[in-house]
Amino acid sequence: MVADLKEALAELEREGKELIAAAEDTEALEGVRVDLLGRREGRLTSILRNLGKIDPKDRPKIGAEANRIKGILQEALEQRSAELEAERRIAEEGLDLTLAGRSRWRGARHPVTIVIDEICEVLSGLGFTRVRGPEAETEWHNFTALNTPLDHPAADMHDTFYLSPGILLRSHTSPVQIRTMQAAEPPIRVVAPGMVYRRDPFDASHAPAFEQIEGLAVDEGIDFIDLKATLAEFARRIFGPRAEVRFRPSFFPFTEPSAEVDVSCLICGGTGCSACKGTGWIEIMGAGMVDPAVFEAVGYDPERYTGFAFGMGPARIAMLRYRIPDIRLLYEADTRFLGQFS
Ligand code: PHE
Repeated sequence: MVADLKEALAELEREGKELIAAAEDTEALEGVRVDLLGRREGRLTSILRNLGKIDPKDRPKIGAEANRIKGILQEALEQRSAELEAERRIAEEGLDLTLAGRSRWRGARHPVTIVIDEICEVLSGLGFTRVRGPEAETEWHNFTALNTPLDHPAADMHDTFYLSPGILLRSHTSPVQIRTMQAAEPPIRVVAPGMVYRRDPFDASHAPAFEQIEGLAVDEGIDFIDLKATLAEFARRIFGPRAEVRFRPSFFPFTEPSAEVDVSCLICGGTGCSACKGTGWIEIMGAGMVDPAVFEAVGYDPERYTGFAFGMGPARIAMLRYRIPDIRLLYEADTRFLGQFS
């Protein structure tokens, strides 16, 4: 008896689905509904009338199965009803309700913005305040005050965009150091993200406009150890607890001594891969101790104060982190690309 009921229910499900799919209009579908699920004469009702004849302990199981099938058939009825309604409206009104809608466009943060915000957040935890400076700068802020005379090869190397005599698009964020020191007395700890401009070709690894992040700390008694400790902690927080930093001697007119700072390759972890060209290290920034000539330019006493500065390119860091092979992708407003980083 239990087996008979199970079989009857399975058949109801099978046949019910067929009848529903075959209903040609709303009226026919209503007929099918009454035939299958009608309260008095429906097939489900007549099957369940036999429930009284089986062992009480089997009843809950069969009851649950009957409910499951009822649910399935109801859903199929609703779906077919919606289909018939859509067909009717296409025929009568020429309105196609089955056409997919346009989904809404959702904005997302740019991958470089994500990296900048994260770097500023980490440095803020180390006591650095986020500041900004103008993108149109004076020659004096961009070069002269930074101990870079205009006939210096560094000024030449930047090959700057001039807006008018003495005014240019800044070639680095270092002039924000000058503006910060002109506006306040030590102790100073600032981080300054923003756009910089150079006459570079627009190719896979260069852009004529790109972001930089400048850092500056000035106080009594700051020394190279503070710079190293700050950047080592910075690297661990941005690249992971096992990240290491390496300092290589370098030259910038506004720092002395100066260094290029490398971080252990975040792709291979230091064993060597194509991202680090087999060296295990990736260059992420320039840094050094503020040159006393810079303090003199802003009227600080170089006998009293020392400090360190660093500058890095967040686009490069974003490219490493997100494995972006071509810098130009970052500067094309293609939402299919940018939407991946939200
Ligand atoms: N301004 C330098 C550059 O653009 C980077 C830098 C900043 C180096 C601060 C040392 C200190 O290459």
